[in-house]
Amino acid sequence: MSARETLARELTAARARTLRLVDLDDAELVRQYHPLMSPLVWDLAHIGQQEELWLLRDGDPDRPGLLAPEVERLYDAFVHPRKVRGQLPLLSPTEARAFCRTVRDRVLDRLDRLPDDDPGFTYAMVVSHEQQHDETMLQALNLREGPPLLDRGAPLPPGRPELAGQSVLIPGGEFVLGVDAADEPYSLDNERPAHVVDVPAFRIGRVPVTNAEWQRFIDDGGYDNPRWWSEPGWAHRQEAGLCRPMFWNPDGTRTRFGHVEQIPPDEPVQHVTYYEAEAYAAWAGARLPTELEWEKACAWDPETGARRRYPWGSADPSPALANLGGDALRPAPVGAYPAGASAYGVEQMLGDVWEWTTSPLRPWPGFTPMIYERYSQPFFGDDYKVLRGGSWAVAPSILRPSFRNWDFPIRRQIFAGVRLAWDV
Ligand SMILES: [Fe+2]
Repeated sequence: MSARETLARELTAARARTLRLVDLDDAELVRQYHPLMSPLVWDLAHIGQQEELWLLRDGDPDRPGLLAPEVERLYDAFVHPRKVRGQLPLLSPTEARAFCRTVRDRVLDRLDRLPDDDPGFTYAMVVSHEQQHDETMLQALNLREGPPLLDRGAPLPPGRPELAGQSVLIPGGEFVLGVDAADEPYSLDNERPAHVVDVPAFRIGRVPVTNAEWQRFIDDGGYDNPRWWSEPGWAHRQEAGLCRPMFWNPDGTRTRFGHVEQIPPDEPVQHVTYYEAEAYAAWAGARLPTELEWEKACAWDPETGARRRYPWGSADPSPALANLGGDALRPAPVGAYPAGASAYGVEQMLGDVWEWTTSPLRPWPGFTPMIYERYSQPFFGDDYKVLRGGSWAVAPSILRPSFRNWDFPIRRQIFAGVRLAWDV
């Protein structure tokens, strides 16, 4: 398949997913469900606005576009924080859909003229942007109060609960961190360039921490004992009144996309902050991994001395290998993907839950910003913690072992969970 055909297919798949997520009454789309999340109609028009900017105006905001400048500015994420977006004079759902359709028609025309030897990086970047917003919209829908709009999600394979708590030794030594455009033409700026790093030996959880394990932390008074918490973590725990994962109810049930249900014991825990993850790890006699450790355990093949494209090898992700794509609306039980294990035997590294690491977001040596210069660069520094591996809500086509996500350590509406690590 040519790059043109692949990109057209991926653009179309992303749009189909977006339109399914906004297939709701106008009143739903303009509602702001939570101060942390935009109204869905903002995401919709912003997807079209970014697509137009990068693919039809070569990223030049001064080049006239389809929207009046004052309207386009409403969709600049750096100008308007999420909590105020519900009060902005946004495009109506009908206008937003029409705008996105017009942009897309022109983009597909332009894609037809992409030269044979051009991988079309910017098209893939736009696909990644749209798919990332689809995950954001799922976060918003999960925060929505009231009777469910979505069903309970697609079936998942059974787990192997006995894997909970097991760990795998990753011997010390060098490995190649990050990727280059030559191997991964659609990798984003912060994943590049590939470079050798030395990682001392460590152990890492074979699977993510489960809800049953987390319940033991609660039962043992983990939320009430400052001993397990870092200083900023304890301050936040006090201020925010944290006492269980977000969406867990006091009666032992949880609420998921409006459905109240029993908490599945063998499912990876989600909706915990970095600070809770850190406290849990301390209580469990462990720590969180660095992102270097995480990526080595995921991608390195010590037999061949080379990276694998995916933890399991070079085959594209499939429902037998990982829980991705968003249809499940929840993580799979631990041990559900034996065929998806990495070379070291670590499982469920891609999909299910984003995994908190101790690493702040920093550029790799030799970092060069991509055309969307503000994708990574404004976020470098100590404010954010890196999350790895993608969640059940991430589209398989945009995810790689080198993919880096980041958020504030107090956030937990994201589909984030915990994998432990240990010094050896
Ligand atoms: Fe965006």
